Amino acid sequence: MGNIPEVLPRLTMKVAFITGGAQGIGEKTARLFVKHGAKVVIADIQDELGQSVCEDIGLDKATFVHCDVTIESEVENAINMTLAKYGKLDIMINNAAIVDDVKPNILDNEHATFEQVMRVNVTGVFLGTKHAARAMIPAHSGNIIMMGSISGSIGGIISHAYSSSKHAIVGLTKNTAAELGQYGIRVNCLSPHFIPSPLTTNLINDHPEKYSKVYSNLKGVALSQDDVAEAALFLASDEARYMSGHNLVLDGGFTVINPAFGLFARASPME
Ligand SMILES: NC(=O)c1ccc[n+]([C@@H]2O[C@H](COP(=O)([O-])OP(=O)(O)OC[C@H]3O[C@@H](n4cnc5c(N)ncnc54)[C@H](O)[C@@H]3O)[C@@H](O)[C@H]2O)c1
Repeated sequence: MGNIPEVLPRLTMKVAFITGGAQGIGEKTARLFVKHGAKVVIADIQDELGQSVCEDIGLDKATFVHCDVTIESEVENAINMTLAKYGKLDIMINNAAIVDDVKPNILDNEHATFEQVMRVNVTGVFLGTKHAARAMIPAHSGNIIMMGSISGSIGGIISHAYSSSKHAIVGLTKNTAAELGQYGIRVNCLSPHFIPSPLTTNLINDHPEKYSKVYSNLKGVALSQDDVAEAALFLASDEARYMSGHNLVLDGGFTVINPAFGLFARASPME
């Protein structure tokens, strides 16, 4: 028996730009992409954290840039810095997002909070996509991934603002895929189920009884940030070279089932 061959790197020579990469899913994605041979630029508003992640990865492979995705000049400058440093941009991950408190009565939802969520989660993704496209169109290639959510497919699981924002970026994915296909640029959305993280901890603390049930479809598995990074790697790699305009839902079947009906739960062959 020979040795098991090592997994081949899938992003050799690629340059990836990841918004919100200072922690969470963005950080895991940056680390996995580097493992697969990419150079990464982490763009975030958490300067110290983002810089320390890049130092930990290695400054020859990862670069931090301060970038608030809601400010066009900062997005523009960050992409320009990437082009100046690496000469190209292959992969854009529009990952930065915020979540507001769930207020079950719409009458308690504030205009300013709604607009702030839309500004980061939708306008920020639009600006990231626009300036990535500016870099990718002349190269006639590129790959843009929006970080969505199951709340971009179904309602009733999170705030009105967050759910609206995640539905909106599925629309932006389709529309920009339609436009940018002529330049060989692929655009997809990756929509994970709920994962415990700083973004979602408040939800778990406030409603532990609800969130313990959300994995009830796929037994024995809970989604991790690493799973999301692996799915992003797939979308970013040549293995997904014919995928564009797609919303890849990573939810163990959660959004395709109505648990209230429960046909198969009742028909277990083991009983
Ligand atoms: N964690 C989950 O359960 C979950 C589930 C589905 C989808 N998502 C999506 O995955 C993505 C990452 O989520 P996470 O759980 O890693 O969140 P997180 O809060 O751990 O990380 C988000 C990052 O975005 C950065 N950020 C926030 N506002 C910014 C701005 N204006 N400009 C630049 N950066 C900004 C933050 O500083 C942070 O580093 C988000 O798009 C989120 O909606 C998360």
